[in-house]
Amino acid sequence: MSEIWSQLKAHKKRLKKTHMMELFATDPDRFDKFSVQSGDLFLDMSKVKLDSAAMATLLKLAEETEVSARRDAMLRGDAINDTEGRAVLHTALRAARDAVITVDGANVVPGVHKVLDRMAAFARDIRAGEVAAANGEPFTDVVNIGIGGSDLGPVMATEALAPYHDGPRTHFVSNIDGADVADTLRPLDPKRTLIIVASKTFTTIETMTNAQSAMDWLLSAMDKGSANQHLVALSSAVDRATAFGVAEDRIFGFEDWVGGRYSLWGPIGLSIMLAIGAEDFRAFLDGAAYMDQHFARAEFASNMPVLFALVGVWHNSVCGYASRAVLPYENRLHRLPAYLQQLDMESNGKSVRRDGSDGATDTGPIVWGEPGTNGQHAFYQLIHQGTRVIPCEFMVAREAHEPHLAHQHRLLVANCLAQSEALLRGRHLYEARALMAAAGFEGDELERQAAHRVFPGDRPSTTLIYPKLTPSVLGQIIALYEHRVFVEGAIWGINSFDQWGVELGKILATDMAPLLDGGDASGKDGSTQGLLQHLRS
Ligand code: F6P
Repeated sequence: MSEIWSQLKAHKKRLKKTHMMELFATDPDRFDKFSVQSGDLFLDMSKVKLDSAAMATLLKLAEETEVSARRDAMLRGDAINDTEGRAVLHTALRAARDAVITVDGANVVPGVHKVLDRMAAFARDIRAGEVAAANGEPFTDVVNIGIGGSDLGPVMATEALAPYHDGPRTHFVSNIDGADVADTLRPLDPKRTLIIVASKTFTTIETMTNAQSAMDWLLSAMDKGSANQHLVALSSAVDRATAFGVAEDRIFGFEDWVGGRYSLWGPIGLSIMLAIGAEDFRAFLDGAAYMDQHFARAEFASNMPVLFALVGVWHNSVCGYASRAVLPYENRLHRLPAYLQQLDMESNGKSVRRDGSDGATDTGPIVWGEPGTNGQHAFYQLIHQGTRVIPCEFMVAREAHEPHLAHQHRLLVANCLAQSEALLRGRHLYEARALMAAAGFEGDELERQAAHRVFPGDRPSTTLIYPKLTPSVLGQIIALYEHRVFVEGAIWGINSFDQWGVELGKILATDMAPLLDGGDASGKDGSTQGLLQHLRS
C-alpha cells in the first residue's frame, strides 16, 4: 500500500477514539468547514468523521492520483474508456450551443444540438397532436422499452419531475419477464400508444424481445404500415433500428461516446422530454451543465463532486464501510437509488486497474436505499443499532411542490434532520437508564431494558439540501453524482466507463435457453444440470 493510503489509515486510527460530537464541540466552525455550496445544491459533510488534517490528506490523494488531469482528459474528449477505445462525453450532451468539444478533430456540439432540436420538434408535435396515431387521434400514452441506462434514467427523471408533466402519460418496460410488458400494455389502447424502443446497441435481448411483443400488440389492432407510425427508436445503431422497421425520421441517434448509464441527457431522454416538454428538458440539461462547469473549474477544496468523492473513498477504502445508503426525503426520487446503483456499481464495481493489475484497495461500494420516511419504518433499525456502519446520504428540498401540504413537508424535513442527528449523537447508557427509570423499571430489569435502548451514535452521514425539485435541480444532482463516481474511479485507478462484468452472464443465458427445452447439458456444472432437470420435469 502506498504511503498516502498508510497516512489515511493513520488518520482513521487517530480519529477512532474521538466521538464526532467531540469534533463539533472542539471546533465551532466545523459545519462551515465541512459544507459546500454549488449552484442550488448545499452539501453538509460535517457529520462525516473527518477533520482538517484527514481532509488535507484526502485532497493530496486526489492530487497524487491525477484526478484533475483525468477530469480534463474526459471533458476534452480523449478516449479515456481505453478498453473500448472511446471518449466519454455525456457532458457534451448538455453543453451550450456555442461550446466546442472535439472528438477526432471534429466539434461534436453542433451534432448534439441538431438531434436535440429534432427531439424538441418531435416532442412539440406529439404533445400538440400534430404527429398523431395512425387513426389521426393524438397519442395519449408513450411506452419506453429499454433496460439499464436506456430505462433507469428516463424512469427516475420522469417520476422525479411529475409536477412538470403536461404531455402524454409515460410508461416503462424493461424486464425480460413477460409480466412487465403484459401488465404495462394491458390497460393501454394500441391505437393511441407510441412505442419507443430505447437501446444504444439495439441488440439487448430484453429490449428486442419486449419490442417485438409490443409490435405484435400493435399489430393486433392495426396493419403493419400503421403500426410503424407508432414506433420510435433511440439508438447508436441506426441501421439495426431501420431493419426493425422504424422510419428514418423516427430514429434519434447518438454516438458511442455516450455510455448507457450516462445517456438520459440525449435521445434516451426522449420520454422525459415528451412528458415535461423541451423547455423544461433544456432546464434539466442546463442544471447538469452548471455542475459540469463547477466540476471543471472549482478548486478541489471547494469542488462539490470532488469532496463528495473523497468522502466516499474515505468511507469505502479507508474505513472499510462496504455500502452506502441513498436516502432521499423526496418521494418522487424513489427510483434514484436504483438509478444510482447502475451509475455507481456498473461504473466502479471493478477490481482490475486501468493497467490490468489488481486493485490495492476496495473500490465501488454497494449502493442501495429508499426514500424517507418509508425507510425509517423498514431498515433504519440496522443503520442505527446494527453491527455494521453504513454511511447515509440524506437529501431533502427546502420547499415542496404542494404548498397546501406544507405542514407535511415540515414533518418530512424534520424527520430527515432528526435521523442524521440520531446517527451522530446516539444515546448513552446513562440516558437510556434514565428513560427506563422514568418508565418504572428497577434493578436488573432496568439494566436489561436500558441496554436495548442505547445507540452508539458516531455514525456518518451527509445531507444534500436543494431549494425545490425542479428540472434544473435534478440535473445538478445527477451530474453531481456522475462526477463523484468519476473522481472515485480515477482515485481507484479503474476504468469507470466499461462494463465487462455483465457480459459473461449474457453469453451464458443465450446458451442456456435451448437447454430448457431439452438440449445437451452435460457440459454444465452439477448444480446447473440439476436445476435444468428440475425445471424440465
Ligand atoms: O448490460 C449492461 C448494459 O450494457 C448497460 O450498460 C446498458 O445501459 C444496458 O445494458 C442497455 O444497453 P442498450 O441500451 O444497448 O440496450
